Amino acid sequence: VSTCSHSTDLLMFVTLVFTLKSPFCTFLAVVSMAMTPIQRPEMYIIGAQPLCSQLSGLSQGQRKLCQLYQDHMMYIGDGAKTGITECQHQFRQRRWNCSTVDKTSVFGRIMHIGSRETAFTYAISAAGVVNAVSRACREGELSTCGCSRAARPRDLPRDWLWGGCGDNVHYGYRFAREFVDAREREKNYPRGSPEHARTLMNIQNNEAGRQAVYNLANVACKCHGVSGSCSLKTCWLQLADFRRVGEFLKEKYDSAAAMRIGRKGKLELVDKRFNTPTPEDLVYIDPSPDYCLRNETTGSLGTTGRLCNKTSEGMDGCELMCCGRGYDQFKTYKHERCHCKFHWCCYVKCKRCTSLVDQYVCK
Ligand SMILES: *[C@@H]1O[C@H](CO)[C@@H](O)[C@H](O)[C@H]1NC(C)=O
Ligand SMILES: *[C@@H]1O[C@H](CO)[C@@H](O)[C@H](O)[C@H]1NC(C)=O
Ligand SMILES: *[C@@H]1O[C@H](CO)[C@@H](O)[C@H](O)[C@H]1NC(C)=O
Repeated sequence: VSTCSHSTDLLMFVTLVFTLKSPFCTFLAVVSMAMTPIQRPEMYIIGAQPLCSQLSGLSQGQRKLCQLYQDHMMYIGDGAKTGITECQHQFRQRRWNCSTVDKTSVFGRIMHIGSRETAFTYAISAAGVVNAVSRACREGELSTCGCSRAARPRDLPRDWLWGGCGDNVHYGYRFAREFVDAREREKNYPRGSPEHARTLMNIQNNEAGRQAVYNLANVACKCHGVSGSCSLKTCWLQLADFRRVGEFLKEKYDSAAAMRIGRKGKLELVDKRFNTPTPEDLVYIDPSPDYCLRNETTGSLGTTGRLCNKTSEGMDGCELMCCGRGYDQFKTYKHERCHCKFHWCCYVKCKRCTSLVDQYVCK
């Protein structure tokens, strides 16, 4: 399998734009487009054609979408980046912590393995895209969408108003489905081949990520009325906090289903005793590689040098995190805000306290 490589010789971009050869890395390439606000105007200076053609690695269909929806591209990048940040948060105490050896792609070579972890990264990135595009619609940043036009929920009390400007999760979902899945749908692998299995896996996990955002979006309301009487309420559709999406998908990761390609060219459960996964569930087709030891072939970073918790019996405990290799103990200074006082009116003033704490690091 080829690896993702990058080129840095681009005109005005300070950020890397990857030249992607691997089929698995391409969607993630867009991540590199997430830029700081200061760099953003340059995207528009570059103009229609070059932006999309510079994003080498987009599939044909994605390139077309890029040209049609140029103003969306930045949000796709931002969204996927939000997904990665959330992934690193959810897995901060695990052996695999959502980081990579191979600096040239966001998640690295580990993505070539159709594991549970890969399933999660696809889902959370797709979720991030739905999230970002839905919000951008509401904020009026995109030319082809605006506030949510979701129908009034039936169970909303009759005297509450429906119609604040809501996050357009419907549009976000549909756009992300078009864009993210475009390259999977264009592939033409022989039915039943391992590559076909992987394509089906990606599509299922992308969908699970999108549905998480869609289904977790909820009604939010604001009170109006005389001096906070709340006699009047206006309500609208609002995205869930992305942390909740992360937690939800983490649960889906824990219950992800092991699949294999069946005779009819569809994914089927390895163990028929389990429930058939719904579109909200994550699926995987390969066992996870060993995340304990560094391995250039699989892309595993290993856990040497990772912080661990001496007293925890969980995955963050030194025993499990260090895979039985033991750990080194260090003393280190920890700085904290302390002795905080409230001053009338209205600020809080704190002292900075320093304490010496023990730290444990895997051998
Ligand atoms: C790296 O992983 C591969 C595939 O699992 C395995 O065959 C190989 O022995 C590993 N290499 C090292 C140095 O552990
Ligand atoms: C993940 O673990 C690697 C070592 O295994 C470490 O270098 C890296 O900083 C960690 N990343 C995060 C986000 O904690
Ligand atoms: C270590 O784990 C214990 C038990 O789970 C927990 O109470 C403690 O807060 C943890 N320490 C740190 C520094 O995270």
